[in-house]
Amino acid sequence: MRTTIDSYRNRAGRLNLEGIDFDDFKDQPLPGAVLRTLRYMHDVEHHTVCYLRDLLLTPAHQDPEITSFLSCWVFEEMWHGEAIGQVLEAHGEAAGAPRIAALRQRHRRKEAVTTLSTIASAAFAGRGFIALHMTWGAINEWTTQAGYGRLSERAGHPTLRELLARIMKQEGGHIDFYASEAGRRLSESQRAQKLTRFFLSHTWRPVGSGVMPKKEVDFLVGYLFDGPEGQAVAERIDRRVDRLPGQGDLHLLTTAVTKLSAQRAAA
Ligand SMILES: [Fe+2]
Ligand SMILES: [Fe+2]
Repeated sequence: MRTTIDSYRNRAGRLNLEGIDFDDFKDQPLPGAVLRTLRYMHDVEHHTVCYLRDLLLTPAHQDPEITSFLSCWVFEEMWHGEAIGQVLEAHGEAAGAPRIAALRQRHRRKEAVTTLSTIASAAFAGRGFIALHMTWGAINEWTTQAGYGRLSERAGHPTLRELLARIMKQEGGHIDFYASEAGRRLSESQRAQKLTRFFLSHTWRPVGSGVMPKKEVDFLVGYLFDGPEGQAVAERIDRRVDRLPGQGDLHLLTTAVTKLSAQRAAA
């Protein structure tokens, strides 16, 4: 555990953009679907600080190793949002502060509900909350890293591929911490396993669902995870969740993708 946090803290830092030429996007612009996905990722990366605000109101703030991790993690996620913002700006789109301020203004009521529900969940889960939070974080990071990987494949743009590979490497550091903490904390407590399973099976939604409009969530899930390659990635994430103590056969990702496909077919 100490090794995980120490090694993460030592290598955490601002995303290295050396050699990434954002003017490449002016010569070779990205198609609309890729830009739509990047807008989602920009907004969600920048939303991390609001998620952190909610977490710090829960027992998570009492654990100094977790707060050390969160301090570095929120910094790295902010720079992911900034880098994606530069791609959007290269296409003449608004990014960064004006886009984030408008998003937060639109969602301020929803935000208040999210904050209250996080506090209520923490009160209900008690000491099991941290295991739940670490597990939720691991699933979000697995999904985010896999989502960037799928976007990179679908876009087939060399500059975007290099940028996303650098972001994905940092997401890997986040995965290491969350997944190792989740595994350890779940293995220590049957109650935490049951609580985590209960919350995941009743309340889990794809990353960004609490912030982005439903039609954008549906678009993102369909664009990145539908079709044979996307489904294979979703199944791989589900298998990782299966390996966490007490979390077998939840099928979170594949259920979300299948549900969306069924809705599309019915429409
Ligand atoms: Fe990120
Ligand atoms: Fe991350």
